[in-house]
Amino acid sequence: MTPEPHSLTGPDDLALDPPPGCPAHGTGPGGLHRLHLAEDLTALYDTLRKQYGPVAPALLHDDVPMWVVLGHAENLHMVRTPSQFTRDSRIWTPLRDGMVKPDHPLMPHIAWQPICSHAEGDEHKRLRGAVTGAMATIDHRGLRRHIGRCTQRLVNRFCEEGRADLVDQFAEHLPMAVMCQVLGMPEEYDDRIVQAARDMLKGTETAIASNQYIMDCLLRLAARRRARPEDDFTSHLVGHPARLTDDEIGQHLRVVLIAAYEATANLLANVLRRVLTEPGFRAQLSGGQMTVPEAVEQSLWDEPPFSTVFGYFAKQETELGGQRIRRGDGLLFGIAPGNVDPRVRPDLAADMRGNRSHLAFGGGPHECPGQDIGRAIADVGVDALLMRLPDIQLDCDEDALRWTESIASQHLVELPVRFTPRSPQAVTAKPSPGTAEVPQQRTPWEITGGPTAPAPAAGPAPAASRPAAAAEEAVPGGPVTVGGADGPARPEGAWRRLLRWWRGY
Ligand code: HEM
Repeated sequence: MTPEPHSLTGPDDLALDPPPGCPAHGTGPGGLHRLHLAEDLTALYDTLRKQYGPVAPALLHDDVPMWVVLGHAENLHMVRTPSQFTRDSRIWTPLRDGMVKPDHPLMPHIAWQPICSHAEGDEHKRLRGAVTGAMATIDHRGLRRHIGRCTQRLVNRFCEEGRADLVDQFAEHLPMAVMCQVLGMPEEYDDRIVQAARDMLKGTETAIASNQYIMDCLLRLAARRRARPEDDFTSHLVGHPARLTDDEIGQHLRVVLIAAYEATANLLANVLRRVLTEPGFRAQLSGGQMTVPEAVEQSLWDEPPFSTVFGYFAKQETELGGQRIRRGDGLLFGIAPGNVDPRVRPDLAADMRGNRSHLAFGGGPHECPGQDIGRAIADVGVDALLMRLPDIQLDCDEDALRWTESIASQHLVELPVRFTPRSPQAVTAKPSPGTAEVPQQRTPWEITGGPTAPAPAAGPAPAASRPAAAAEEAVPGGPVTVGGADGPARPEGAWRRLLRWWRGY
C-alpha cells in the first residue's frame, strides 16, 4: 500500500498534535518517531516500513526532521541520482533555518567539509579521482601478504594466554595496522593510535585531542612525502595531477584512515561473532560449504558496518517511495533497513551466496572506493585467525554480549574467547594451528618449513623461553629465513621465495 503523501517540512506537520509531555518520549511532533531514542532501531525501521512504506518521516536529536529511506530500490535510486540528491549538507533546510545548532550531536556528520564525501560534480571527480588514483597503485597481493603478517603478529600477542577479547585485541587493531602500512606510516601503528581512533569515534571529552593526535601523524606524513616521495598511498595522493592542497591531503588521509578503520573493525567483529555464536555458520565454514569471503559477504548483508549514512539532501522537489520530498529535505541512506527490505529478501534466513547487491558499500558516485581493501582485511584476517586458533570458543554467555548502538552504526563492545594456548608463530609463516601435542606432519607442498625442518614445538613454550617478539620476521635486508616458530632458521631458496611471494605468506 502506498502511504499517504507526507511532507517533512510542510506547515501541516507543525500543526499536528503537540509532542507527548516527556521530552524523552519515543515520539515527537506529529507523532513522528525519534530515531535517537529508539531502544531497538531494527524494530523501529520495521514499524516505520509498515506504517509509511519504503520512505518514512522521522526525527533526529532536537526533533530535526529527516526522511529514513528503508527500501532497497529507493536507497539505490537516491544514491545513483546525483541530479536530484546531493551529499552537500549546505542546502539542508533545517541547517539553513538555524534549527540545527552548532552543538547538534550529529554535527561531525552534518558539517560540510572540503572532502570527497561531501563534494559533487567536477569537484567530487577531482577529489575522488586523487583518492582512487592513489588506491590504484596498491599492490593487492602484497596487501594480502601484509594483512596475513599483521594477523600473525596480533595472534602472537595473546596466543599463549588461551584467552582474548577479539574486539579489543584483534578487530580494533588489524585494520589500523594495515592502514598505517598502506598510507606509508607503519611506524605510527601502536596501541596509542588505536586508542586515539576509538576515542575519537566514541566522541568522549578527549575526542578533540585524539583527533588532533591523528591529524598530527597524518600531516607529518604528508610533509615527509611531499619532500621525499616513496611508493605508498600518501606519496601517490600528494603527487596526483589533481594537485590537492595540504589541507585537502590531510583531510583525505583522515577520511581514508578513519572510514577504513571503523567499518572494517565492525566487519571483523561481526563475522567473528557469528562464527562463535552460530554453530551452523561455523560448520558451513569448516566443512567447506561456505568460504570466508562468502561469510564476509553474508555479514555485509545482515549486519552492515555502517547501518546508515548521514545524509543525502534533495536538490529539487521530487518523489521517492510514494513520499513528496521537498527541496532542502534531508534523507538518511538506510543501509541496514535497505538490506532487509522484504521485496529483495522475503526470507531473511536464506543465504545470499553469490549476491553482492547489498548496500553496505553504498552506490552511485560516492560508492566506497576502498571496498576491496575492507574485504581483503576481513577475508585474510578471519581466515588466518581461525587457522591459528581452530578450537576457539566464545568465553561468555551469548546473551552477555553487548553493543553500543547509534543511528550510524552498531559496535560489539567485547568478544571474549578461549582456546588451547599455543606458541607464537613466525610472522612470515603460513598460519597453522601449531598444536603441540600432535606434532605437525609437513606435507610436501608446504613451504613454511621444508621436509627436513622440525615440526612446531610441542605444547605452549614457556613465555620466557619463547617471547612473541622472537617470532618476528627476519631483519629486512638480511637473509630471508623460514621454519616453524621454534625451528632453526634456514636460508630460503629462490623457489621457496617465489612460492611464498605467489601465495602471499
Ligand atoms: C568493510 C569496510 C568498509 C565499508 C562497509 C565501507 C562503507 C562505505 C560507505 C557506506 C561509504 C559511503 C557511500 C555513500 O556516501 O553513498 C563509504 C565511502 C568511502 N569509503 Fe568506505 N567502507 C569500507 C572500507 C573502506 C576502506 C578500507 C577505505 C579506504 C582504504 C574506504 C574509503 C572510503 C572513502 C574515501 C569514501 C568516500 C567516497 C566518496 O564520497 O566518493 N572505505 N564507505
